[in-house]
Amino acid sequence: MQNSELLKATKKFGTPIYLYDGEKIKEQCRELKSNFLNIDLYYACKANTNPEIVKLIASQGFGIETVSPGEIAIARRAGIPASKITFTCSSIDEQELVSVVKQGVKVHLDSLYQVEIFGKHFPGREISVRLNLWVGGGHHSHVITGGPDSKFGVDVSQIKQLKELAQKYNLKITELQQHIGSNVPRVSIFIKGMQVLLKTAFTFSELKHLHFGGGFGIPYKIGDEKLNIVKFGKEVKKLISNFNRKYGKKIQISFEPGRYLVAEAGSLLVKVTDIKKNPTKTFVGVNSGMNHLVRPAMYDSHHEIINVSNPNGKKEKVTIAGNICESGDVFAKNRLIAKTKIGDVLAIKNAGAYGYAMSSDYNSRLKPKEFLMLGKKIRRV
Ligand code: LLP
Repeated sequence: MQNSELLKATKKFGTPIYLYDGEKIKEQCRELKSNFLNIDLYYACKANTNPEIVKLIASQGFGIETVSPGEIAIARRAGIPASKITFTCSSIDEQELVSVVKQGVKVHLDSLYQVEIFGKHFPGREISVRLNLWVGGGHHSHVITGGPDSKFGVDVSQIKQLKELAQKYNLKITELQQHIGSNVPRVSIFIKGMQVLLKTAFTFSELKHLHFGGGFGIPYKIGDEKLNIVKFGKEVKKLISNFNRKYGKKIQISFEPGRYLVAEAGSLLVKVTDIKKNPTKTFVGVNSGMNHLVRPAMYDSHHEIINVSNPNGKKEKVTIAGNICESGDVFAKNRLIAKTKIGDVLAIKNAGAYGYAMSSDYNSRLKPKEFLMLGKKIRRV
């Protein structure tokens, strides 16, 4: 989206707001669909659960991957049938698991205990199980989901127990799932994870479907490498046709991208409210904070920030701070941005994923409103 469009939106709707570019979301969807032919794609909606965005992505031919009954309800209300929704969650109780299964949503069982509960309630059925095969990747230790320190999935050391448990309840393991982590920057890391799951898959004789999770990275910093989706698609095709040949059967496969579809489409638009020139640092204060976008405070994540009111101004090194009562409430430290004055609008870019979805009313400061631009039209969503 152009700076002028961002600025225009703030003139009409004020700040702070999230503004999403629907055309960009569609473009990301099309890129994945065209490079992953005959592969099921589920949108991991934890990245952005705005119902209009969930609906938009579903309309592009995506299923929805969920992690809570709340997300299932959002997907159902957006008109997505239960048969196109999957659910993956750790640390849930018997009641939640049973109620999700009863809704007709496919569950990727996360632990031996979940397999036990499933078997007790639904003996003789086909199941999908999430495995932790100790391959991990991602932008921060908090989001790496493979390896000995991860709470997710049935550990590689417990596959024998998993099979015994399945047998006890006459369950058929027809699907396996793996998700190695989030914002993985390179194809080679995904391929490594896939190879390990495929190797393990040979030890299961009744498979129909393999799920390789999400985690597709996006470039946050200028100059960051972009995930090569064309190459990714080609390598996946090769890997799977080799596997199918050796396994003696055609296996359906799927991915669950979240961030990739929505991150670059969203900006958090904020207003400069204070400028504090201290002896060693200049703080530019804005009318938003870590309650609206927690990624910089939580993972030290980089988001490009543009002064859309003065994009070509002389660059100054400043620290951009929020209005929340915590020292860690900064969006960017010692960042070069075009000279700011009070009232300027700053666009915090690539905030469409895990932005609003992770926001809170901390300090009793309310969440920002969200707007979606489709064509030239902007509406509140
Ligand atoms: N599938 C499973 C089982 C997942 O746990 C996740 C993300 C995804 C798919 C989608 O991952 P994605 O394609 O969006 O990378 N709040 C963090 C990211 C947490 C991701 C959690 N799981 C952040 O802001 O970077």
